[in-house]
Amino acid sequence: MADALEKRSVSITRLSGNVPQIHTTASTVKGTTPSLVEDGRRRFIAASELSKSFGGFQALGPVNIHIEEGEFVSILGPSGCGKSTLMLVVAGLLQPTKGHIEINGRVLKRSMTDVGIVFQDHLLLEFRTAFENVLLQQEIRGLDRNQIRKRAQELFGKLGLSGAESRYPRQLSGGMQQRVSIARALVHEPSVLLMDEPFGALDAISRTQIRHDLEALWMETRKSVLFITHSIEEAIGLSDRVLVMSNSPGRVVEEIRIDLPRPRPAYLGQYPEFAKYAQQIYKTFEKLGVYQFK
Ligand SMILES: Nc1ncnc2c1ncn2[C@@H]1O[C@H](COP(=O)(O)OP(=O)(O)OP(=O)(O)O)[C@@H](O)[C@H]1O
Ligand SMILES: [Mg+2]
Repeated sequence: MADALEKRSVSITRLSGNVPQIHTTASTVKGTTPSLVEDGRRRFIAASELSKSFGGFQALGPVNIHIEEGEFVSILGPSGCGKSTLMLVVAGLLQPTKGHIEINGRVLKRSMTDVGIVFQDHLLLEFRTAFENVLLQQEIRGLDRNQIRKRAQELFGKLGLSGAESRYPRQLSGGMQQRVSIARALVHEPSVLLMDEPFGALDAISRTQIRHDLEALWMETRKSVLFITHSIEEAIGLSDRVLVMSNSPGRVVEEIRIDLPRPRPAYLGQYPEFAKYAQQIYKTFEKLGVYQFK
């Protein structure tokens, strides 16, 4: 595997200009045809010139991002740069001040429904067991009960939660609570998974394990994922592409295609390609003033 990695080239796109942006080359007709990327793969989610202000304060953008069908894209950026705002806007839960989102070529006008969302806080209902929390999707969406129960049981197995079905959230460790919220986000088999620093509150050992488990699950299901993180290792470990954001108001300043085979090892540091990607991101953050190393 190390040999395979060494042969791969690191593909990093430094976006030009002062506060550079990713520009797309595919032409789209709004609301009618699906947008296509250059190689013909479907551009499943496309955000164009998105910005968000709260009162007079600009929190985000403008940003242009896209996620292809089945692609795992991470957003990596400093605290307060607008990552959660971006995710909420992409989900249709927050209206952008400018710009728009297209899903499969159609302009998003209300909250996305074909989606699973995992927030930094697990947001489980304390009065429902782990399993009942996951079944909430079935109740809210009016889905087939037996089918969802079956899928929930499968997910509990894959996520290492077997035996925890009847425990209440307070009886679960932080890692288990996040695993339940991942099961809740996936049980109705959405096409899109939005994750906002889902492992932020976990210890390093749990993070490594849950990252590995998420990758395995993603390899099976190939959802389109937007994954927000502060962790360079997590972004490189999980993503097909990493989008690096500037300080507030956050803009995408760099796009890094991660060309590493999957499943990726728990300890990525042993491979030179990982170090190259990580070094590039550190350099970008230093340039942006996110880090100020003496
Ligand atoms: N509803 C709101 N009203 C006013 N300001 C807001 C609101 N939501 C977010 N902000 C501000 O917008 C900026 C971006 O917030 P956001 O939560 O998107 O950052 P973030 O990148 O997710 O940060 P973190 O990594 O710490 O979670 C912050 O300055 C925040 O205070
Ligand atoms: Mg946030």
